[in-house]
Amino acid sequence: MSSKPLSLPDPHLRIRYGFIGCGAINQRRHMPEVSAHPDAQITAVCDCNQARASEVGARFGARVFTDYRQMLREAECDAVVIATPNYLHSQMSVDALRSGRHVLVEKPMATSEAEGRAILEAERASGKLCMVGHSQRFMPPHVKAKRLLEAGVLGRIIGFRSSLKHSGPDNWSVDGRESWFLRRQEAVMGAIGDMAVHKADLLRWLLGVEFADVGGCIGTLAKRYADGRLIDVDDTVSITLSTTGGIFGSIEASWTNFSGEEDNQTIIYGERGVMDIGGDPGYGVVVRYADGTREAHAVGAIATNKQQTASGVTEAFTRCLRSGERPLIDAQEGYRSMMVVVTAMQAAKEGRRLSIPAAPVS
Ligand SMILES: NC(=O)c1ccc[n+]([C@@H]2O[C@H](COP(=O)([O-])OP(=O)(O)OC[C@H]3O[C@@H](n4cnc5c(N)ncnc54)[C@H](O)[C@@H]3O)[C@@H](O)[C@H]2O)c1
Repeated sequence: MSSKPLSLPDPHLRIRYGFIGCGAINQRRHMPEVSAHPDAQITAVCDCNQARASEVGARFGARVFTDYRQMLREAECDAVVIATPNYLHSQMSVDALRSGRHVLVEKPMATSEAEGRAILEAERASGKLCMVGHSQRFMPPHVKAKRLLEAGVLGRIIGFRSSLKHSGPDNWSVDGRESWFLRRQEAVMGAIGDMAVHKADLLRWLLGVEFADVGGCIGTLAKRYADGRLIDVDDTVSITLSTTGGIFGSIEASWTNFSGEEDNQTIIYGERGVMDIGGDPGYGVVVRYADGTREAHAVGAIATNKQQTASGVTEAFTRCLRSGERPLIDAQEGYRSMMVVVTAMQAAKEGRRLSIPAAPVS
């Protein structure tokens, strides 16, 4: 299949961004970060909630839309950031790429193999860049850990254990307890698509591996709607993964950590020692070597829902739009990480381990 040559925004002008979804992640991270960037500006915003779109549009001096297709037809923008309920990601990304816009779409990039492939095909046919918002890769402790692992400090990797748990998106989304995150029709996936997908992506990147198979438990154990019924998406996930090269590991993710704190920790076991990322409040990365020595790296914090720090996501995307380099997390990367969780859901349903299908060749 052929791909169109890459076409980038005029290097003499600021990159014009349109935003679809005026919710939490766009308001708290992507919009302020684009608006503060010397090479970028916000020209359009869209939300199906008219009052929200108008308020956000006024705040950033942008044209306001309530229909994203109208925005794609009429707005002057080079790139579009899509941060809407999961079930809309694929169609909106495909429409934006076909309209000639570069796309930054939030995770999970899509909710099924077919939806993911539709984005890959639209990206290839469009000659535009597509990036997926797997922000964990930009957090300073994860960046440091990647450098150390690439330098081989742990020797051959044997295993890992990674967790991402908080009390749920009802304490994050602009719509609180009424959020789409808690409804199957719009979310399709619960904690597995909100949290576990971040860790599947992080581990693939940190270890430079693809997962071969997955199995585990995914269920709804404790999160309830206001009327007392359990929510109809999963709230608690415990999966195990293996690679063809022989690394075994587990990911735990949930919206049922009611401690008031966020648990975001990854431990990597190698032949020469063990790396703890996010487990020590003072040191983002701690390595304990087999010879009894210890290295602690103070490299800044992992962002939490309550303590937000610069995400680096739109900055990285803007850099790619200037240079033409492929985003670190391009559509293929987003697809592979999404397929880990999509396969995990099927494996949990069938009560057995399943192989994770390979990504289509680009
Ligand atoms: N990378 C990260 O760390 C991170 C963090 C938070 C959220 N996210 C992802 O970003 C996406 C959005 O999450 P959020 O926290 O901002 O959600 P949110 O509930 O705060 O906001 C979603 C917004 O989308 C709007 N919307 C719904 N349907 C729409 C439509 N048809 N057209 C236009 N707007 C529409 C809603 O009105 C709402 O304003 C999700 O996929 C989520 O997984 C990623």
